[in-house]
Formats: sequence, C-alpha cells, structure tokens
Amino acid sequence: MKSILDFHEKKIKKEKFTMCTCYDYSFARILAESDVDCLLVGDSLSNTMLGHSTTLNATNEIMALYAGSVVRGAGDKKFVVADMPFMSYRKGLTASMTSAEIIMRSGAHAVKLEGGEGNYKIVRHMVGSGVPVMGHLGLTPQSVNQLGGFKVQGRDQKAQAKIKEEALRLQDAGSFCIVLECVPSALAEEITNSLDIPTIGIGAGSATDGQVLVLQDLLGMNPGFKPKFVKNFYDGFGNLKAAFNSYHQEVTSGKFPSEKESYS
Ligand code: KIV
Repeated sequence: MKSILDFHEKKIKKEKFTMCTCYDYSFARILAESDVDCLLVGDSLSNTMLGHSTTLNATNEIMALYAGSVVRGAGDKKFVVADMPFMSYRKGLTASMTSAEIIMRSGAHAVKLEGGEGNYKIVRHMVGSGVPVMGHLGLTPQSVNQLGGFKVQGRDQKAQAKIKEEALRLQDAGSFCIVLECVPSALAEEITNSLDIPTIGIGAGSATDGQVLVLQDLLGMNPGFKPKFVKNFYDGFGNLKAAFNSYHQEVTSGKFPSEKESYS
C-alpha cells in the first residue's frame, strides 16, 4: 500500500491487509521487500527500542528520528504511519500542528493518534491541512495510567457504546483508518461493519479489515512477553542468540576469520 487511497480500496474490495511496526532502516529494508502492506513507526519504540515500560517516553524528536530511518529503508515501497507521542496533540491546536509538522517532515505519510474525545477538532484540522490521520481506540497505551493497566477495553455496554461513537466521530472528522486495540472481537466486528473506513486490529479478533503486530512480537524476540493476542511467527530470540554464539565459538576456536575473510 502506498497511499491512503489504497486503504479505501482494500475496504471496498473487502481485502484483508497487514501492518507491522518498524523502527529502523535495516528492518524497513527487509519489510519493504516483504508482502506486509504498510508500516507503523509506533511509539511502542519507547518499549522495544529504548527499554521503557510504557510509551510515555517517546517525544516528537524521537518519533521523527526513527520515522525518518524507516522511511529511508522502505524507499517508496510502503506506506509509513508514525505515532504522535504522548501529550503532543493535547496542548492546543497550534502545538498539535507543530508536532504533526515535525513527524510529517521526517517523511512519514500519515500520523496516528490515540483516543476520540477531545481530538476531533484537531483531527479535522490536520486532515484539512494535508495530514492523513489514523485513529486508535480501545486500549490506548498512552493512557495506561488512567486505564489502570494494559487491559482489554469495551467490556461493558457503556464502554462499547463510547468506543463505537468515537469511531464514527473519528471517521466524520476525516480519519482514513482506525486501529482497534484489545477490544472484544464482537465489538471490533460491529465497528468494522459500521464504518466506511478500514479498521486495523490488534487483540481485536479476525473481523477487522487489517491486522497489526509489533515487530518484536511477530519475530519472537521478546520471550517473556506473550499476551493472548500475540503470535510469534519466528523464534527470533533463539535463532539470533544461536548466531551470536556461533560467531563467538568460531572466534574463540580460531575458525573465524579464515583465509577467506583475510587480506593477503
Ligand atoms: O505503538 C504501537 O506499536 C501501536 C500498535 C500497537 C498499534 O500503536
């Protein structure tokens, strides 16, 4: 997928699509050659790349730095969305637009921001200013302290009604797509069927139009972390560790470097 028009097309044709987080040039080059449809420079980089326990430590500058490296790695082959970090769109219109400008100038093709209430005016203004906006509802990790932890959202009727309304209002404000994170599958299905724009699920069942996974989870690089919605498609931790150990073993045994890797 290369533009927001491809998202509309996927929805109309009822074709499923994939998004994967990506934070650096090297992985972006691999993903650019893969079938994965689009990339998200998530503020989850605060966890996966910087080792924090929440996403709250990401800043505009950090997001732009990582997004730029992903855009350079992906070339013109993938649509790249970058997260607007914690608080960057909650300090008024001008500050929000400055944040969006920093992220978009990194080369990202769209921004993603979390939540509905309080964001509609900003979303409308961004879209009207040429910035495609992806929404994010359900479990919104930037609000982890308000939510009381990383928990499934939309469990009761009142919460479900709120998420449904927020999805519709984000669509009305001009969002081109909405991520639904950790909500019951039936709710995600209802929202997906009620929208003209596509939904992307993570821990939201199979009925959403697209799916997203965090790269390190997809590649099995984080062995202690296995929430119900995560599937490891590779034993990244085990296989990479084995490669590092082979290197160490060959150096300490004198096998590497051999003549082949040496200059005469
Ligand atoms: O930051 C992130 O990785 C995300 C995904 C979980 C959707 O927002």
